[in-house]
Amino acid sequence: MRSIKDKNVLVTGGAGFIGSHLVDELLKKGAKKVVVVDNFFVGKMENLEEAKKHENFVLYKDDASDLGTMEAICKNEKIDVVYNMATMALIYSFFNPYTAYMVNVKIAETLMQLMMNNKFKTLIHMSSSEAYGTALYAPMDENHPMNPTTPYAAGKAAADLLIKSFCNVYNLDVVIIRPFNNYGPRQNDQALAAIIPITAKRIHENGKPVIEGDGEQTRDFIFVKDTVRGLILAYETENLNGEIINLGTGEELKIKDLIDGICKYYDYKGEIERRPERKADVRRLCASSEKAKTLLNFTPEYTFEEGIKITLDWYGEKNGRNN
Ligand SMILES: NC(=O)c1ccc[n+]([C@@H]2O[C@H](COP(=O)([O-])OP(=O)(O)OC[C@H]3O[C@@H](n4cnc5c(N)ncnc54)[C@H](O)[C@@H]3O)[C@@H](O)[C@H]2O)c1
Repeated sequence: MRSIKDKNVLVTGGAGFIGSHLVDELLKKGAKKVVVVDNFFVGKMENLEEAKKHENFVLYKDDASDLGTMEAICKNEKIDVVYNMATMALIYSFFNPYTAYMVNVKIAETLMQLMMNNKFKTLIHMSSSEAYGTALYAPMDENHPMNPTTPYAAGKAAADLLIKSFCNVYNLDVVIIRPFNNYGPRQNDQALAAIIPITAKRIHENGKPVIEGDGEQTRDFIFVKDTVRGLILAYETENLNGEIINLGTGEELKIKDLIDGICKYYDYKGEIERRPERKADVRRLCASSEKAKTLLNFTPEYTFEEGIKITLDWYGEKNGRNN
């Protein structure tokens, strides 16, 4: 095993939800330097409150797709490892498909250029289960076909293909991680928010929770701290060159059951608004975690009950609730 300790690590999108949890864990594990590059599209300064207390934390408010900027940062900060977490939310791709698609591809292209020119050594790239599209079989392993249904997901799939091809040709030290749906504290609850934070917010602001479609669509929810542990193992495990690895739990949850559970937790007894099915919504996601177990010795530690309690308590407090 190699160690993240004493490494200079750059995290693109480090002011976002998963990125900021990763930053905290990298600092806790003794990374020599943790450098965040985030353009604050949805990233928040408050997500970096803990990180900012460390003297080995550096923040750049910049665009991670810009080659010149990234080259200068890699050089100045002597970067060893890059975690590529930056993206624009899936929902954004319904309003601005081209930009949502291109950001994923452009950042991947920039990182490949930098790696080819030895500007840093290792890349842990964050893909997404959305690259697979709806499950053709379950659990979904890493050989499941890629059938992205949104421009966001197409950008994720394209970035994976781009990175994998560079990795094959130039023998680069890359791992591609495909996490399934993440949840936990700090997930964006403003515009472009995902289902758990937006439902918590609606309940606390006297709005109605919303189910789009029949609510039978399923997701595999993994707690953010488990994902972060998997991401660090992806660096620490040697000889994974070019591997694609899922991070999920193998458990499926229907969206209507998720919403019911959140309502019960907050003792909400009001109406649930029904809206038409979201266009291009993935119907079913369920991860096979076999490869993560075999290669990374990774299994999730948080049960859904444990993770969702931490999450809903956090949003409850944020929304001014006294638990
Ligand atoms: N949240 C999930 O359920 C989930 C599931 C699978 C994969 N992922 C992937 O994990 C990664 C992190 O997701 P998240 O949920 O934390 O998202 P997030 O939106 O909270 O974080 C993404 C961050 O990237 C930043 N960003 C966007 N464009 C940028 C650019 N050009 N340059 C620099 N920064 C930029 C944003 O400001 C934000 O802080 C993403 O790659 C996402 O595709 C997330």
